[in-house]
Amino acid sequence: MTARTSRLSGFHKQSVADRIARVAEFTGLSAADQALLAGTGHLDAELANHLIEHLVGTMNIPLGVATNLRIDGRDVLVPMATEESSVVAAVCNAARQCYEHGGFTTSMSGTLMIAQVQLVDVPDPEHARIRILERRDEVRAICDDCDPVLLKLGGGFRDLEVRVLDSRSGPMVITHIVVDTRDAMGANAVNTMAEKLAPSIAAWTGGRTYLRILSNLADRRLARARCEWRAEDIGGPEVRDGMMLAYHFAEADPYRAATHNKGIMNGVSAVVLATGNDTRAVEAGAHAYAARNGRYTSLTRWEVTREGHLAGVLELPLAVGLVGGATKAHPMAQVALRMLGVRTAEELARIIAAVGLAQNFAAMRVLATTGVQKGHMALHAHNIAMMAGAVGDEVGAVAQRLVAAGRVRVDLAEAELAALRAGR
Ligand code: MEV
Repeated sequence: MTARTSRLSGFHKQSVADRIARVAEFTGLSAADQALLAGTGHLDAELANHLIEHLVGTMNIPLGVATNLRIDGRDVLVPMATEESSVVAAVCNAARQCYEHGGFTTSMSGTLMIAQVQLVDVPDPEHARIRILERRDEVRAICDDCDPVLLKLGGGFRDLEVRVLDSRSGPMVITHIVVDTRDAMGANAVNTMAEKLAPSIAAWTGGRTYLRILSNLADRRLARARCEWRAEDIGGPEVRDGMMLAYHFAEADPYRAATHNKGIMNGVSAVVLATGNDTRAVEAGAHAYAARNGRYTSLTRWEVTREGHLAGVLELPLAVGLVGGATKAHPMAQVALRMLGVRTAEELARIIAAVGLAQNFAAMRVLATTGVQKGHMALHAHNIAMMAGAVGDEVGAVAQRLVAAGRVRVDLAEAELAALRAGR
């Protein structure tokens, strides 16, 4: 018998159907599995095949809508793509509790992206640094020449920064080009510029250029959201003070801050994904920003105002776009954008920041009061009831009995279902 090989030659050239058959042959996937792969749903296989390589299917993620959000005086319905229960409900709850008090106020520092060019093998890095800075006009011309469309839309080169970096391989001269990418996330635009610029940097300095790529620490593209919750709207001063203790914990401890920020990203990434944007880019930027002062800490800041309200602020890099990539190509991302009614990438980023802040509020509130398990248990009980065979109204009824008994197990669910059907 010949050994199975994962070296599937010509795989990339095959049709989606042929790839599925080949994967099935290798892995023993059933006919039902293959049919599931072939049914790509609202993302047409032909289109998906252009988005990634070696396509064999698509992966559906639930899309929910966050309600109750008032952002900068406008009511919006926000699409959120997430597989995690409670995430959408958390935003709705947080937004409901601040709606009457005015909701969220947002702003943005700009839509500037940074690309880096790494230069090595320069004997005089400090001189080289200044020599590059002296060529600012040439740098501008090279960059702007790459993207006339961006220029027409009001974007393009904005700034030049050069640093000498000490590294284990010796000094490196790192050039940053700062580019306004307007409604594009901007990766393509700035990567093209960095690659075009690199030979000139090498020529001006006598060094050798290596990496030419954007930085996901997009700290010239900060989205900000702030909001106040009245103590009486959130359960009183005791709840508010408990939430402040939760915040101070996250601020002081990276172990807690990681989870605190994960909660924020539950909201942020769900909207980023729903709109076809790059979740990894945003997550990398957010976590790097949380550690910008040398110690990883909370992305949000919380205070108690003179009036006794709980005031929260979220500020994070948010490199999202409306044009290009999956945002433009994915039909559901387009629906999500129409739902949001945003005209610019900035408007989208600001809404996302508000959702992140709402998510953090909700997580701190539940953690400082009942704890997360109560809500999770109720949802878990629904799943267990279904596993036990409950259908329709039986699901809620069995789940309720399990939660009331404080024990959520399939055998108990089966017993409760039997009792329910017997009229007990
Ligand atoms: C779970 O996905 C998110 C939380 O853990 C966030 C937090 O702890 O702040 C509830």
